[in-house]
Amino acid sequence: MARRKVAAGNWKMNKTPSEAVKLCAELKDLVASDSVDVIYCVPAIDIVPVVDAVKGTNVKVGAENMYIEDSGAYTGEISADMILDAGAEYVIIGHSERREYFCEDDDFLNKKVKKALEKGLKPILCCGETLEQREKGVTLDWINLQIKSDLQGVSASDVAGMIIAYEPIWAIGTGKTATTEQAQEVCGAIRKTIAAVYDQATADSVRILYGGSVKGSNAKELFSQPDIDGGLVGGASLKPEFGDIVNYDK
Ligand code: 13P
Repeated sequence: MARRKVAAGNWKMNKTPSEAVKLCAELKDLVASDSVDVIYCVPAIDIVPVVDAVKGTNVKVGAENMYIEDSGAYTGEISADMILDAGAEYVIIGHSERREYFCEDDDFLNKKVKKALEKGLKPILCCGETLEQREKGVTLDWINLQIKSDLQGVSASDVAGMIIAYEPIWAIGTGKTATTEQAQEVCGAIRKTIAAVYDQATADSVRILYGGSVKGSNAKELFSQPDIDGGLVGGASLKPEFGDIVNYDK
């Protein structure tokens, strides 16, 4: 069965609750699609108003982060149950900004992936190399290490339903998109790793996205690659251009 494409927006630390509601209204008709899964991953405080604002549309909602514990004295954190109860279905785990600015390592991210799955949240697991790693020629080794570490002890059936996003750090917010060949090479390598660790059926089912300066103008070429099942989009997900990304094939 063909994998459904995904256009996921990562709003990062943008949009107040009232701005978020306005953006949902602005994008509503533009992102309508019956062939592509559309997801808005939004700041925690925007989840409730955004879930309400997209009710009755094709848009699903995700969080940008979560904590590994169920509840308790973890000031400032939010739990998987809170995200689910607020009406979101997805959670981004391991974005390079969290790895870098908040020192999240693969052991911690593995715990997050497992907690999300245990609770019924769908993880969007991110991986990606620095420019230095790419220039040294260790990109594929690095990505394989991240994927294998972050998925330690996760079952094949859980991985089959997951989303993985390959986001080269040097392409995030820089306007410098990876070439189609570079993006396909790494997404293909991730799928091969999943096949080796699990089995071919799991590899054929997991959806692998490219992220890093995805735009209306490059979405079609990127999303047409055999191992690229859509995009995780930062800057362009906050603009009407996101509609062009969702409807890349029109
Ligand atoms: P940009 O699309 O702004 O480059 O951001 C990519 C990203 O980090 C999505 O998670």
